[in-house]
Amino acid sequence: MTRTYKVVVLPGDGVGREVVPETIKVLQAAGDVANGFNFEFIEFPCGGKYYKETGKEWPEEAWEACKKSDAILFGAIGWPGAIKPGGALAGIDILLGMRFSLDLYANLRPAKLYEGIDSRILGKSSKDVNFIVVRENTEGLYVPIRGTLDRGGVEELAVDVRVITRKGAERIIRHAFDLCMRRGGAPADGKKRVTCVDKSNVLEGCRLFRKIYDEIAENYREIERDYVYVDAMTQWMIRAPEHYDVVVTSNFQGDILSDLSSVLIGGMGMAPSANVGEKYGMFEPVHGSAPDIAGQNKANPMGSILSGKMMLEWLALKHRDTSCEKAASIIEDAVAQVLIEGKRRTPDLCYGRYAGLTPSTTSEVGDAIVEKIEASSF
Ligand code: NAI
Ligand code: MG
Repeated sequence: MTRTYKVVVLPGDGVGREVVPETIKVLQAAGDVANGFNFEFIEFPCGGKYYKETGKEWPEEAWEACKKSDAILFGAIGWPGAIKPGGALAGIDILLGMRFSLDLYANLRPAKLYEGIDSRILGKSSKDVNFIVVRENTEGLYVPIRGTLDRGGVEELAVDVRVITRKGAERIIRHAFDLCMRRGGAPADGKKRVTCVDKSNVLEGCRLFRKIYDEIAENYREIERDYVYVDAMTQWMIRAPEHYDVVVTSNFQGDILSDLSSVLIGGMGMAPSANVGEKYGMFEPVHGSAPDIAGQNKANPMGSILSGKMMLEWLALKHRDTSCEKAASIIEDAVAQVLIEGKRRTPDLCYGRYAGLTPSTTSEVGDAIVEKIEASSF
């Protein structure tokens, strides 16, 4: 019997509402061509705008649906003026709530430069940039152990506690090594390599993280060990991206490094991500709601579409479903072809060789990818 995957869709705010519909279009087309499974998409409104209208970040049924889902497709949250009492961004509890409550401990953020995109780093090309940041997603500096001290009405102190546990470090590092086994190695030398990024010269948590890295590395003799301090990493990643294959790190450091890595691949509009645990998976572009360009049909949908591709890869692995794997590679090939052709791209990619091009809209780029999928010869 053909399997049906229940996908909860949360477009959220701003450009999330523009890029997610393109992703659904592309997923549907790839599913039809791969022909081995079906999707059931269940959509809910959520985010800052929804909060302003209803006083809630999302409907209760949405959370129930997430717990029964096979996967979650997320856009972005955050809208100007949509702030909760106390000052937090309306919608943020959806994102952090899902990461913690669904135990989505691995945040995977690939940095792959496609051939049809000019590198912003002199002398680097698509042959040099193909690594993935594996970021711990449920502890570190983002655990909700924080507070402030007010004395006599004066805000005197603020504390954020950074937590590194053996369980947390073990599972993320193991995830990184397992992922490395399935990849083709670093662009520079083809070697399988997992780079441990930390600040173990100063921080206790990082010393534990590195110790556990060494313990786990013992079980993967064919993978090269590599260590770098996080401050130095910010320049190595840009100077020599070809050295990197899989990069594993703790929560806050991974957040910063993965945003930085988007510079290597054509900007925020190109960056996909996955948040996965043992049971659940949530897939979202790295970018936010981009209020500066929202509502103008000019956001790049590729980051979201490639997140959809990551969703298929994760479903393929989890359910041993080769038709999902096929659909994932159909999507990636179609995106790559549209980029190489160089005719249809959103304004963020119209630089370098493409500076003189008339930009396409979000939906035209989605259509171009669907056309390639329909023409693909699987
Ligand atoms: P942003 O990622 O929304 O935008 C940063 C820059 O990248 C802007 O110039 C924007 O135009 C551009 N950009 C973003 N997505 C693009 C796309 N698909 N195509 C072309 N250009 C794109 O980050 P910003 O401006 O710091 O935050 C805006 C709102 O989004 C805030 O409320 C913020 O809190 C929220 N946010 C939400 C995230 C999430 O839902 N995961 C992540 C980051 C920010
Ligand atoms: Mg971030």
